Amino acid sequence: MTEIITSSPAATEAFAETIARRFTGGEIIAFKGGMGMGKTCFTRGVARGLDYEGQVTSPTFALVNEYLGGRLPLFHFDMYRIESWEDLYSSGFFDYAERGGVMAVEWSENIEAALEGREVITVELQQINEDTRRILLEGGIY
Ligand SMILES: Nc1ncnc2c1ncn2[C@@H]1O[C@H](COP(=O)(O)OP(=O)(O)O)[C@@H](O)[C@H]1O
Ligand SMILES: [Mg+2]
Repeated sequence: MTEIITSSPAATEAFAETIARRFTGGEIIAFKGGMGMGKTCFTRGVARGLDYEGQVTSPTFALVNEYLGGRLPLFHFDMYRIESWEDLYSSGFFDYAERGGVMAVEWSENIEAALEGREVITVELQQINEDTRRILLEGGIY
């Protein structure tokens, strides 16, 4: 378990970047924490840590955004609307999981059954105040 407090979006991004610099492929980040906690912000940092230089935006309407061109592919999911195994299969989650990239999964609470038995890094974001977040990492080397 690792805990860190950040006091700006830039700090959250920078922290995520240092984490992702060590990634070698196959990592699954399972985010926990509601709307506006900083999941997409953290994912932006992960992209930077993988040397991806393009824009990183919320996949809310697309379900998944692919960021290719960095050191490793990054697949960024928003599982907010996933309610069934059928939904999950349609999202492409299982196909992406076999591509050896890094998976960043927002609303992982909704796909717990699919993550069971996989090695995941859980990243929980909690709001302390407007610009401050507590970030808890668990799993893998954390
Ligand atoms: N310490 C912080 N870390 C991350 N985001 C923060 C922080 N403080 C304020 N914010 C703000 O919180 C919001 C987080 O948005 P976003 O990353 O899209 O959240 P989520 O994906 O969890 O819904 C942004 O508006 C960001 O500027
Ligand atoms: Mg988001």
